[in-house]
Amino acid sequence: MVTNVVDLRSDTVTKPSDAMRAAMAAADVDDDVLGADPTARRFEAEMAALLGKEAALFVPSGTMANLVSVLAHCDVRGSEVILGDASHIHVYENGGISTLGGVHPRTVPNNPDGTMDLARIVDAIRNPDGALLYPTTRLICLENTHANSGGKCLSVEYTDKVGEIAVNHGLKLHIDGARIFNASVALGVPVHRLVKAADSVSVCLSKGLGAPIGSVVVGSEAFIDKARILRKTLGGGMRQVGVLCAAAYVAVRDTVGKLADDHRKAKALAEGLKKIKQLTVDSSSVETNMVFFDIVDPRISPSKLCQVLEQRNVLAMPASSKSVRFVIHYQISDSDVQYALTCVEKAVEELLKGGTKLEHLTNGTAKNSYWH
Ligand SMILES: Cc1ncc(COP(=O)(O)O)c(C=O)c1O
Repeated sequence: MVTNVVDLRSDTVTKPSDAMRAAMAAADVDDDVLGADPTARRFEAEMAALLGKEAALFVPSGTMANLVSVLAHCDVRGSEVILGDASHIHVYENGGISTLGGVHPRTVPNNPDGTMDLARIVDAIRNPDGALLYPTTRLICLENTHANSGGKCLSVEYTDKVGEIAVNHGLKLHIDGARIFNASVALGVPVHRLVKAADSVSVCLSKGLGAPIGSVVVGSEAFIDKARILRKTLGGGMRQVGVLCAAAYVAVRDTVGKLADDHRKAKALAEGLKKIKQLTVDSSSVETNMVFFDIVDPRISPSKLCQVLEQRNVLAMPASSKSVRFVIHYQISDSDVQYALTCVEKAVEELLKGGTKLEHLTNGTAKNSYWH
């Protein structure tokens, strides 16, 4: 029996659409490490044009996209990067920039809207006169949308200002744009304009866009040449990768136009959650496809709530010791949103009554223990 599961753990959980599978089957492929895969070449050229940069490179994951970007900009060991203390690169990427690249992170607090104060960014830039003691600042990283801030968008004005700071201090600007298309749609700003100030951008194809695998990095020809070598060093050079690029092409073609609908559903979900007394959610803070809500009743923990939801085929992840995160993607329908809301309401009632048996849930811990 096939059971319908409403999977709100992340926008990474989508299954390839029929059109993606058909494109994968039909893809014209060759050895991409030799630079010969025609589908990969075409896709990279299209992504570079869409993002307004000279060149692009397909990589297996968002983590590798950020890693090759930071390492390409910080090619002298002991370089320093300024980035948000709640940024994905800093929190969830195994410290790869340090362990593999010898890059030193200088964190600046992320505000609730995902920005870092401009004055604090400037303050964090090392004085080159102190080079005997200090690492050398070479890069600033932003994240748009900002996942740990609930999918909030960084405006084009803010991004331009950070770009100006970078230029004035001889630094580079990288944007972790895992969900940059969500930001572009929510802000109503063309994606190439939104990232104009950036020297490089990483874009995840397997999040809101729905491709099964992959990210791209975009930037200048010289930057992409370096990134290509780093990708190979990290073991990310792939052979007939056109199979993946074909699916990613369909994802970009078919899904960008649906993102506004995802954002509308996220708002509807937030509005519905707001009506449940034991939860708090600031629906005005829902700008894209993520909804974070707090549980105010101490008798209900996020992990218990997620486990009871799982019994009803609604999957979600705890986001902290008191909050839960729901993420909308194009495979979530309006009726899925309504079903999830009904289940949350019932799960809260059940947990308040007590006596819910959760021991038999073998999958709960594994499915709910990690989020990003
Ligand atoms: C903002 C952000 N950047 C980068 C990544 C890393 O992507 P991947 O899981 O493909 O390595 C994620 C993953 O969720 C993310 O949310």
